[in-house]
Amino acid sequence: MTKEEQEGKDLAFAKSKGNCLACHAIAGGNLAGNIGPALIAMKIRYPNKEDLFKVVWDPREKFGRGVIMPPFGDHKILTKEEIEKIVDYLYTL
Ligand code: HEC
Repeated sequence: MTKEEQEGKDLAFAKSKGNCLACHAIAGGNLAGNIGPALIAMKIRYPNKEDLFKVVWDPREKFGRGVIMPPFGDHKILTKEEIEKIVDYLYTL
């Protein structure tokens, strides 16, 4: 894992940052929720990295306004740089 991917993993797992495990099963993560789909085979499912970035930045565009997932970028929960690192990490899954 590169430095960026590791930092993305830490951000994704941190309760005070992404807290992605609250809703998503991720390999290696404990006590994951199942409100969202398991995050697996992301590179195959999102061959265009920009599409994956957009989902984390603001999932409302793809999934509609009722989506439970917070718009991490749009609501300034995470910075662009943080989301880029998380996307780098998601690409390893
Ligand atoms: C409060 C719950 C919640 C949190 C926290 C959350 N998500 Fe989600 N996420 C969802 C739900 C629900 C969906 C599915 C939306 C749908 O299918 O309508 C989703 C969808 C996704 C998708 C698209 C998956 C696919 O199969 O296409 C990705 C990628 C994703 N989330 C990444 C993340 C990342 C990365 C984080 C942490 C930074 C995160 N999510 C945090 C609930 C959440």
